[in-house]
Amino acid sequence: MSLIIGIIGSGAMGAGIAQVAAMAGHSVVLYDNNAAALDKAKNNLAATLQKLEEKGKISAASEVLGRFTFAGQVDAFASCGLIIEAIVERLDVKKAVFAEVEKVVSDTCILASNTSSLSITSIAAACRLPSRVMGLHFFNPAPLMALVEVIPAIQTDAALIPLATALMGQWGKTPVIAKDTPGFIVNRVARPFYGEAIRIYEEGIADMATIDWAMTEIGGFRMGPFALTDYIGHDVNYVVTETVFQSFFFDPRYKPSFSQKRLLEAGWLGRKTGKGFYDYAQGAVLPQPVKDPILGKMIVERVVAMLINEAVDALHLGVATAADLETAMTKGVNYPQGLLAWCDASGASKWLAVLDDLYHHYHEDRYRASALLRKQAMENKNFV
Ligand SMILES: NC(=O)c1ccc[n+]([C@@H]2O[C@H](COP(=O)([O-])OP(=O)(O)OC[C@H]3O[C@@H](n4cnc5c(N)ncnc54)[C@H](O)[C@@H]3O)[C@@H](O)[C@H]2O)c1
Repeated sequence: MSLIIGIIGSGAMGAGIAQVAAMAGHSVVLYDNNAAALDKAKNNLAATLQKLEEKGKISAASEVLGRFTFAGQVDAFASCGLIIEAIVERLDVKKAVFAEVEKVVSDTCILASNTSSLSITSIAAACRLPSRVMGLHFFNPAPLMALVEVIPAIQTDAALIPLATALMGQWGKTPVIAKDTPGFIVNRVARPFYGEAIRIYEEGIADMATIDWAMTEIGGFRMGPFALTDYIGHDVNYVVTETVFQSFFFDPRYKPSFSQKRLLEAGWLGRKTGKGFYDYAQGAVLPQPVKDPILGKMIVERVVAMLINEAVDALHLGVATAADLETAMTKGVNYPQGLLAWCDASGASKWLAVLDDLYHHYHEDRYRASALLRKQAMENKNFV
């Protein structure tokens, strides 16, 4: 395959995306301005590819590793046709790196950012040729997660989008197209999974273990919100919530919680620090859920109603197609079913009633139902 791929940043995401590209047959230039980080990525990639060879997933680790150039200077990108940036989540730093890269690449080289929360339009605006810039948002770990959100900025040349989606398909990924809005699809639509669960806990309606039990055993989710945020790390999960909240001009639907903010302030980041919502110290006694089916059903209905409302509103506002919304939530965060199909299964009126009850009870804008959900309920229509 002749297209040479450049990756900026050899951290968790950059190294993972580089592995995906190399396994798809591309020559890959992996650049990092931190020599120790680059060295670590090189050793980790060698070990990962070796394991894949032993498991019979690839024929020769050395062959895949041979496709890599590890670079400490951007000059190495000169022959690349596509460059994917995965460095620190700071607009000023990303802008500066793209400006450096544009000095060495050809005018036809496509520039993509893996940003989780920054506007692609603002990154493109800092480039000499904004029409070649887009978002390619992979999920962690990139070699295992199938979903890639393809995000055109308002400046992006429309002809590049089918090229990008086709390439992601060749890499074995499932691309979806998302409008350049905060959180794109997954990081927007998934917010209530965490936020509403924490709200239920803060109000004392149920404890963490009970909410996690309800969401997994009754809701069918792989992990409960408290166990999952402990796993993701509160430094990552809280910051995404806060950024989405700020980027939506402080829409109360995305309001972060003090419970999670305090964890961050205490340095209780979750599993990686041994403590988060739960205590992971050896010998710590994990709290047991109250397995009350009526309470459990109420918890699931409230969180799922909020999730469905987000998905429906994203559809209403043209963030993505119905099909892409379903793919994103099942492949990006492994939900048991697409949220629009979940809505259809019980009918829009049922979910609208849950939301309207919450709205009337709290008198908070957070619980306002999407106009599209109300319309579907009135017309008794299905989404998928
Ligand atoms: N970690 C995730 O779960 C995840 C998921 C999707 C998207 N993202 C996004 O991907 C990007 C990278 O995240 P990560 O978790 O891989 O970060 P990371 O901290 O693991 O890696 C970042 C790497 O970039 C390098 N770097 C920093 N500044 C640089 C510069 N100016 N020039 C060259 N290299 C530089 C660092 O040395 C480091 O190796 C961020 O934009 C993040 O929002 C992260």
